[in-house]
Amino acid sequence: MRVELAKHPLIAHKLTYLRDKRTDSPTFRRLAEELVTLLAYEATRDVRVEPFDIETPVGPTTGIKLSSPKPLVVPILRAGLGMLEGMVRLLPSAEVGFLGMQRNEETLEAITYANRLPDDLSGRQCYVLDPMLATGGTLAMAIRYLAERGADDITAVTLLSAPEGIAAIEKEIADLDIPVRLVTGAIDERLNDQGYIVPGLGDAGDRLYGVV
Ligand code: URA
Repeated sequence: MRVELAKHPLIAHKLTYLRDKRTDSPTFRRLAEELVTLLAYEATRDVRVEPFDIETPVGPTTGIKLSSPKPLVVPILRAGLGMLEGMVRLLPSAEVGFLGMQRNEETLEAITYANRLPDDLSGRQCYVLDPMLATGGTLAMAIRYLAERGADDITAVTLLSAPEGIAAIEKEIADLDIPVRLVTGAIDERLNDQGYIVPGLGDAGDRLYGVV
């Protein structure tokens, strides 16, 4: 897996306010969306395009458009939903599929409880959205799920990542022979014994949508 730490002062600035426990949910949602748009710029650097002839008011030229099949954006419910708007702002013609995954708070293992994705993802470039790469269980499972349905290029986008989670994904998907990339806003110190990223930002789903 290719790991890309997106370094930019605006990314670090927005992350600082996301980390701050005094930031309320509406501000958190807005900042997360803005931050994802910056990460999306990095994440889509290799999005597939094809040439396309147009006429300017002055004469003909060749531009580019997104290739078909269009990329698929897959937010992992529930916290990944907070990243969707920021991503599709840059990729408005992408299709969107949903994967509901949740970790068991005792075993820290991921289970799938919802799936709204095309069955056949042959030749699709996929962008998986999950704000927190903690143990890596959810993301590794999502990447494998997409690859088994034919996706041939997968980019995971996270706001924050833990070194343990990155290592776990690399191990879990070592047998996949497609390009997999991680674009993240920061790689934090470690996981604590409850599986939270330290210093992190707490529970991303709760910070986005409140405790339910
Ligand atoms: N999920 C979160 O929302 N936060 C963490 O720190 C780890 C997993």
